[in-house]
Amino acid sequence: MRVVAIPFLDEDPALVAHNLAIAASHPSVDRVWGIASSSPGASRPDIESKKIEIVPQTRIGELRPGKGDAMNTAIVLALEEGVEHLHFYDADITNFDHTWIDGAEAGVDAGYEIVRHQFPRAATDAMVTWMITKPFLAMKYPGTVLAGIGQPLGGELLLTSAAIESMATSPMVRLRSDWGIDTALTFTGVASGHSLYEHYVAGGKRHSLYGSLADLRTMVAECFDVAARLPVIEIPEVGHFAEPARDVPSDLRSQSGYSVEATLPLLTAPWGPGELEYASRILPDDILHPYMQMVETGDYRFFDETTWHVVLTETVIPGIPDPALDALIFRLWVGRVLNYTTKHAVRGYEHALDYLQGTIDQYEAAAKSTEGDQR
Ligand code: DGY
Repeated sequence: MRVVAIPFLDEDPALVAHNLAIAASHPSVDRVWGIASSSPGASRPDIESKKIEIVPQTRIGELRPGKGDAMNTAIVLALEEGVEHLHFYDADITNFDHTWIDGAEAGVDAGYEIVRHQFPRAATDAMVTWMITKPFLAMKYPGTVLAGIGQPLGGELLLTSAAIESMATSPMVRLRSDWGIDTALTFTGVASGHSLYEHYVAGGKRHSLYGSLADLRTMVAECFDVAARLPVIEIPEVGHFAEPARDVPSDLRSQSGYSVEATLPLLTAPWGPGELEYASRILPDDILHPYMQMVETGDYRFFDETTWHVVLTETVIPGIPDPALDALIFRLWVGRVLNYTTKHAVRGYEHALDYLQGTIDQYEAAAKSTEGDQR
């Protein structure tokens, strides 16, 4: 049985209904599950096809109840029902069509156990991916498939039965009821030895972008938390193929991922409770002082890739989530993203993407040389 699962929360109900219907109209899809959030503001899409079922999200994890519980609801159900292919797509994609499903199925036909979609994105979109998830994967697993996955935070993927079982039985995956789920799935897929195919969606994933970076605050905290906690273990060599990237659509090359103007005031917002104490504890003086200066004056120019690397390396994650750490990480990340935007993204799409990839390569190389020193 082949199933498409689309978790939804408060997205436009017409768009959710449209995407569910597109999935249901695909000839090789047997069933479509709209996984409905339990929050009171959740969308109520009108459904017509008999293939579509609205499945209420159940409480599986232990963190904030969010997208992770929704994806885990589908994973657990898929295991119970013996689903062979479980596709996931985000509900807010505005260019979802059969080619996404075909692309994923082609990866399985080619013999792979997990397929992830990857796609071009605007130079200032994907700022959690580029500044948090990719750096941690490169720093922790240099030289492995994990260090180079195109969209490690992407919610568009296909799990075959063996991978469904690995995810359903992984304590890390089950725990992550929040935005950490995508990273947990990415890590667990490779760490469990499943082969990976990356399908390239040339038109990009079209979805609504952001106002100020404050829209991403919860996601930043949760994606940082999961990535910083990933265990440093030996990663098996898995079969891997990534379809090559093609020309990036011209509108994406000039699109802004967020508003700089609306974001700047976040730098000088009042200190969060415990933020300064936390900063004094974990940041070396040569970062702490400009950081305190930044909160006073809004000057983020010091926040280059080297400074950020120190932040990623030095931050110690506490046993339980801590709002003081979240406040600190969020403001540091905002400074880092603004630095990148005004120094590199403004110099054109090619330069921006080359620069971003260069930072990941640099972090990976540094991790490799540390590994070498330890041998
Ligand atoms: C990311 O960073 O990939 C998030 O989707 C926010 O854009």
